[in-house]
Amino acid sequence: MTTSTERIALITGANVGIGRTTAIELAKAGYLVIIAGRSLARTQPILDDIQALPGKRTALFLPLDLSSLASVRACAAAFAALNLPLHLLVNNAGVAGARGLTVDGFEMTFGVNHLGHFLLTQLLLPHLIASAPARVVTVASRAHKRTSGIHWEDVRRTTQSITGIREYANSKLANLLFSAELAKRLKGTQVSTYSLHPGVVDTEIWRALPNWARPLLRLRGLLTAEQGALTTLHCALQAPQSETGLYYADCQPTAPAPLGQDAELARALWERSEAWVR
Ligand SMILES: NC(=O)c1ccc[n+]([C@@H]2O[C@H](COP(=O)([O-])OP(=O)(O)OC[C@H]3O[C@@H](n4cnc5c(N)ncnc54)[C@H](OP(=O)(O)O)[C@@H]3O)[C@@H](O)[C@H]2O)c1
Repeated sequence: MTTSTERIALITGANVGIGRTTAIELAKAGYLVIIAGRSLARTQPILDDIQALPGKRTALFLPLDLSSLASVRACAAAFAALNLPLHLLVNNAGVAGARGLTVDGFEMTFGVNHLGHFLLTQLLLPHLIASAPARVVTVASRAHKRTSGIHWEDVRRTTQSITGIREYANSKLANLLFSAELAKRLKGTQVSTYSLHPGVVDTEIWRALPNWARPLLRLRGLLTAEQGALTTLHCALQAPQSETGLYYADCQPTAPAPLGQDAELARALWERSEAWVR
């Protein structure tokens, strides 16, 4: 199925939106792409598109529901059973405006966007390190600027805000801090990490927002999914390994909000996340 020189990428949530374009472009760049997501039926058209590319590209599907830590563990075990190297992990899947609690009792948006990806990355790290040079790209957001901190009290209770935007901002700050802290912990491994803002992109992520909030987004001018995938692809394929731990927008390193540079907060989030997934 794979040759010894083939590079392998695993991407979460690539049946639609930014992830779909990213998966197809990674396949065009020569990667064997593994799409981890909730529905094989909804992913099959993308698997077919990739397999129809010139050069007979390969794409595989692994079941993953990031709102269940058991599902994350099962996905990592299924990857291990494939006995493949792993050169690129793209933590792309995300929800905005979702409400409720995950299977394990975490606020839904924080659980899916941060905690599920935190555990997935931890479980896949041995494969990335063994396959180095390798990369972990985490799709965060400029929305991380809209929070005054990681509100720890919000993490273990159901969504409190009316729009869910406060919880989304929390989760995206967590994405950014996670990527920066991961870079520190991977020093010397040749596994580099990148977080990014893709732009404000016309995708399905806004479907859970209240109807009155959606026109506000359109007013800001939305990018296409193709445009929205460019920074992810830059981090995955081009950004120097030496830029590990940085936050990107418009395909270049960008300063995050001061909270996104708070090393103490990043360490605290890491330690709490480790305890939460234990
Ligand atoms: N669009 C924007 O303007 C924008 C701006 C900043 C950042 N982002 C970030 O970009 C990333 C991609 O978002 P998008 O805009 O492309 O959104 P999208 O079109 O809604 O795609 C989101 C993907 O995440 C998957 N997903 C949702 N919940 C999941 C779960 N519990 N387990 C596994 N997969 C799950 C979805 O799969 P299902 O089909 O199963 O739901 C879908 O494949 C997200 O991290 C988002 O926060 C987007």
